[in-house]
Amino acid sequence: MPGILLGDVFPNFEADTTIGKIKFHDFLGDSWGILFSHPRDFTPVCTTELACAAKISNEFKKRNVKMIALSIDSVEDHRGWSKDVMAFGSEGESPLPFPIIADDKRELSVQLGMLDPDERDKDGMPLTARCVFVIGPDKKMKLSILYPATTGRNFDELLRVIDSLQLTAQKKVATPVDWKPGDKVMVIPSLSDAEAASLFPNGVTTKELPSGKKYLRYTKI
Ligand code: BEZ
Repeated sequence: MPGILLGDVFPNFEADTTIGKIKFHDFLGDSWGILFSHPRDFTPVCTTELACAAKISNEFKKRNVKMIALSIDSVEDHRGWSKDVMAFGSEGESPLPFPIIADDKRELSVQLGMLDPDERDKDGMPLTARCVFVIGPDKKMKLSILYPATTGRNFDELLRVIDSLQLTAQKKVATPVDWKPGDKVMVIPSLSDAEAASLFPNGVTTKELPSGKKYLRYTKI
């Protein structure tokens, strides 16, 4: 299946969306972006995901991340579905705070490698998987995650990985398991001890290990 790899420039596709026609790079401007796909409009798991995404959309905005969803139905369906999503999320008649791309011909889903060949609609047509792509301000793909249609995503985890991506884009650090902003971070292996000492004024602590190798180096940012 064709696809986009980490570090690739994300395709500058044109698409019809609930806010009109867009060219993806113009839509992103200088921001980060998150594009998440859904198998279908008016489906239960997708509705819970979009309602959650809408509820925490301010958190993405704070991080300068533009959100956009995709589902393989028309703009008209998306508009009707958006009302259900906001009602489900108890947001009354507020509009969905981000656009949804219409891909009723599945052309973009094919181009972006989003179709799940094992998940089909009642007519036997493949549905989109739950893909997540995070795109940096340089328009390159920084992260991709692929879930099957039957497993809903955790949008708090997506905020957490964006915090890590934005931090590690600026500093020569990596974030360990379950890291959250404010926790200690790890010095990347390619930095020498001398470089680490000069780059991290809060100091570097090294965990002793049976191998005697000093590769677990922590610092505070
Ligand atoms: C859902 O969003 O609930 C869903 C969509 C396609 C397959 C399975 C679940």
